[in-house]
Amino acid sequence: MKGIVLAGGTATRLFPLTIVTNKHLLPIYDRPMVYYPIETLAGMGVSAVMVVVGGKSVGDVVELLGDGSHFGLDLTYRYQHGALGIAHAIGLARDFVGDEPFCCVLGDNILRGPALAECAREFEAGPWGAGTLLYRVPDPERFGVAELDAAGQVVGFEEKPAHPKSDLIPIGVYFLRPDAFEVIEGLAPSGRGEFEITDVLNHYIPAGGLYTRAYDGHWTDAGTVPSLLRAAELAAEDHRGGRLRPPVERPAT
Ligand code: DAU
Repeated sequence: MKGIVLAGGTATRLFPLTIVTNKHLLPIYDRPMVYYPIETLAGMGVSAVMVVVGGKSVGDVVELLGDGSHFGLDLTYRYQHGALGIAHAIGLARDFVGDEPFCCVLGDNILRGPALAECAREFEAGPWGAGTLLYRVPDPERFGVAELDAAGQVVGFEEKPAHPKSDLIPIGVYFLRPDAFEVIEGLAPSGRGEFEITDVLNHYIPAGGLYTRAYDGHWTDAGTVPSLLRAAELAAEDHRGGRLRPPVERPAT
């Protein structure tokens, strides 16, 4: 399975922190934010990763991550011109992905808990076209939100609804296959002008093609000031519990 980390976007919700630098370079406890999604993919056993970069300080992101060998990964990059949405950013990885299944992790998603190798294997071996992990949050209106039927099955996702139909959100871990690129090509931009990942997930629901699983670790995004602090607290708790490995250091050049 190949991996994609999305580190584009404009991060206006973190202004002034992100006026002159890239959100994914901000510190979360003892390492830059972008280390966390990279480590999430490495923990799944993924070894070839494309980082989609955009916004500010793109060269610094590349300088920090280099060729990825210090993470045990083979890293490559693609530039996203404009923050056209998560689905648009994924679409840029088409040639890189080739004909393999892949996992995309959002660059501001912090997962602390069990590695996802089992989910990756289950998705890869199964019949599903797409997959994501569900997590309960107190502020679902900030995210994509799942609507469930009486049996507890997901019947759809709404992006940032004013009146959320549940408190379960798809976190920024997406399992996909190459046919998702056709789905992305057929998307229209949403009301906020973005190509939405929730529209991609919705495409797969009617025919039973969506894999979902509850994430039973701790999760947060880090795209707002309170969630940036929460992310650092999660990492600090792990550090105190001896569960946070020291950050890898880039080899001296
Ligand atoms: O964190 C989970 C949520 O992430 C999901 O529940 C939502 O369905 C999904 O849309 C997304 O919502 P956000 O509003 O939090 O996404 P945001 O715009 O903050 O983008 C998340 C990451 O994706 C960000 O770290 C950079 C990357 N990104 C985003 C956009 C819009 C790109 O690389 N390119 C883009 O054009």
